[in-house]
Amino acid sequence: MAATEPHVNASELAARAARVIPGGVNSGQRRVPGLEELVIASTSGSTFTDSRGVTYTDYHAAFGPPLLGHNDPDVDAAVAATARTVGLMGVGVTEIEVSLAERIVELVPSVEQVLLTETGSEATFHAIRLAPAATGRRHTVKFQRCYHGWHDSVAMNVISPAERMGQRDPMSQGGIPEVTEATIVCRFNDAADVERALTDHDVAAIIVEPIPHNIGAVLPRPGFLERLRELCDKHGTVLIFDEVITGFRHGLGGYQAIAGVTPDLTTMGKAMGNGWPISALGGKAELMQLFSTTPGRPAFFAGTFNGHPPTAAAALATIDKLQRENVHEHVFRLGDRARTGLREVYARLGVPVVVSGFGSVFVTYFLEGEVGSYDDLLANDVDLFVGYRRELMKHGIFELPLNLKRSHFSYAHTDDDVDRLLEATEASVRTVLDARA
Ligand SMILES: Cc1ncc(COP(=O)(O)O)c(C=O)c1O
Repeated sequence: MAATEPHVNASELAARAARVIPGGVNSGQRRVPGLEELVIASTSGSTFTDSRGVTYTDYHAAFGPPLLGHNDPDVDAAVAATARTVGLMGVGVTEIEVSLAERIVELVPSVEQVLLTETGSEATFHAIRLAPAATGRRHTVKFQRCYHGWHDSVAMNVISPAERMGQRDPMSQGGIPEVTEATIVCRFNDAADVERALTDHDVAAIIVEPIPHNIGAVLPRPGFLERLRELCDKHGTVLIFDEVITGFRHGLGGYQAIAGVTPDLTTMGKAMGNGWPISALGGKAELMQLFSTTPGRPAFFAGTFNGHPPTAAAALATIDKLQRENVHEHVFRLGDRARTGLREVYARLGVPVVVSGFGSVFVTYFLEGEVGSYDDLLANDVDLFVGYRRELMKHGIFELPLNLKRSHFSYAHTDDDVDRLLEATEASVRTVLDARA
């Protein structure tokens, strides 16, 4: 943990923030117990430095975008060069948007046409509104523990307490009941539950994270995604893969290319621009052409900042680098090393765990048995999960100290980082367990 001269007084800045920003942060998930005075001063590669001058190796990675590492020089240079050349016009199209769209169409199996937005929530919003416009139906199926953004039809049933499972569990008050009620919540990895929903209701779309990473990494059981495809074909329902996390991070074609299952629509974001705000919605041309970007078509689509040239340049430069260098090979190898090493650490400590993940993503659940559905995760030892991550900070390592949150490797992480992670994890878990004894 390197300490340099503090830039600003963290307590003072946190107090200033609380006066003018409700809760002092700009996203609900950024207010983490115990970190109320965390002020970020700078980021670089695999690290960030707080306002006290302490540098941490960062595995939180802003919930996943900086796959190449923070402030990647190639991406940032592309943004700066484009910003000097072409800004936002709000009419027509720019070459960079066309080049980016062509690249996504080339790489992502389901995508014949694509539209650019800024955030994952916008992409999923448009995908979900398109489906009723295409099918004339009303309902959306989502899965308990998948997160698709902040809008009413999906902002529910992510991390529900045991007593609210099996019913609608909105994350916010103020939603329109008719919208909330049009969503049916099914169990992930439970095809029979989905089949019941499709038989009993007029379901326009199923939206699913192909790997539900919003609760760490719960892998789809063999055949589950294939079965969703079959059921959607049988019932005429639109299948949406929300690849906002898995897209680009797990492979240039997204997880769909790895699973060999092609949805009708795909949403992408996060790692796509390596930290710059850009997202996309793509899919079958016959569906995408229902958007009002084609005159007279029924699904309204607009956005002042859509296709913003410098952020489109960020995405293109990110994809270029993913294609040019062995980024996926590197982050997958570090992820494998970490998962194997963590299993050895916990075996030595005699702590029952499930170490899960995929590629660059890893997470340790403190429970016995198998993890296939959200119900299994209710057994996670939350105090140990959060507690060892708080201890890790004392070793200069940052994994978000919130229940079930996943961690990420980037291209900027090294083998030394894995070694330090394993050592510090062993020491941190031991400290928490000793304090309990
Ligand atoms: C799978 C998934 N979809 C959609 C979203 C929403 O993206 P955004 O926060 O950019 O609106 C998220 C955000 O975490 C996500 O994980």
